[in-house]
Amino acid sequence: METSAPAKVILFGEHAVVYGEPAIAVAINLRTYVKIKKSEEYRVNGYPMSDKYHSYIKNAIKLCWDGEPLDIQTKSEVPSASGMGSSASITVAMLTALLAMKDELKEEKIAKLGFEVEYRTQGSASPIDTSTVTHGKGILVHREKKDHFLWKVEKGELKWYIHHIEVPSLKLVVGFSGIKGSTKDMVNKVRRFYNWNSFARDVIRDIGKITMEAIEPLQDEDYERIGELMNEDNKLLTILGVNHPMLKRMINASLKHSYGAKLTGAGGGGSIIALTDEQDEVAKAIEEVGGKAYKVEISKDGFRIE
Ligand code: PMV
Repeated sequence: METSAPAKVILFGEHAVVYGEPAIAVAINLRTYVKIKKSEEYRVNGYPMSDKYHSYIKNAIKLCWDGEPLDIQTKSEVPSASGMGSSASITVAMLTALLAMKDELKEEKIAKLGFEVEYRTQGSASPIDTSTVTHGKGILVHREKKDHFLWKVEKGELKWYIHHIEVPSLKLVVGFSGIKGSTKDMVNKVRRFYNWNSFARDVIRDIGKITMEAIEPLQDEDYERIGELMNEDNKLLTILGVNHPMLKRMINASLKHSYGAKLTGAGGGGSIIALTDEQDEVAKAIEEVGGKAYKVEISKDGFRIE
């Protein structure tokens, strides 16, 4: 059984979404592949499965597999801890394989279990990453229900509705800093700030407002406005303390040829995204300051049986 799932980039709303604010993300054309066969013991890429190195895979198995041990091979085009959702991508590819083997493959089930795996593994998470890589295209996560929501999830007092959102064929460049950012550490850092400081709570709400403001320009293909909103979002994320000097360098380098640029994902390392008509120039500018550039497109596909 071979399956795959895409990576994603968050266009607007990272961190704020953990507190119930809206977020918008798109699946991108870099994928993680998983191959599974029954075996005598659990092995991942030839090594015994471990809590430390294979926590997402292990939790996926815990949640939905009680069959024979498995031999698991993974292959990924997505660098780990890069802010491109490598953990969501491996989780969803893995769940797709497990559910397919049980003959229980349903899109909503993959998305719900995917969120649960991330939540358990990280101790805190929103459904933005796992729903985007499950469903593909553009996803809006919002605490209010709009027409045609795909599914909903509740955690304590928080409730998120997952929707598809129309997005134009954005030309994006991802700049990976090469510095691994820990989502768990960054989410905890923001949580401490949020719990102690009403100013941080205002910043989180302002990020939510920017996300809502971005919906119309995304539907109207108003790239100038989308870029402005990305720049504003990036300023607020910087105030939250999740930016990094290397990310700032890549953002400044990209801005010469972009509508806008911002960090994407948890930050503290990881990646930036730039929206541009000149992908080659932006990629060159990112590499000149020491980043690794990926010219990406939106992936229509979410999870897939290969
Ligand atoms: O860095 P990533 O790709 O894991 O994205 C994390 C996004 C956060 O909003 C910071 C956390 C979350 O679960 O929504």
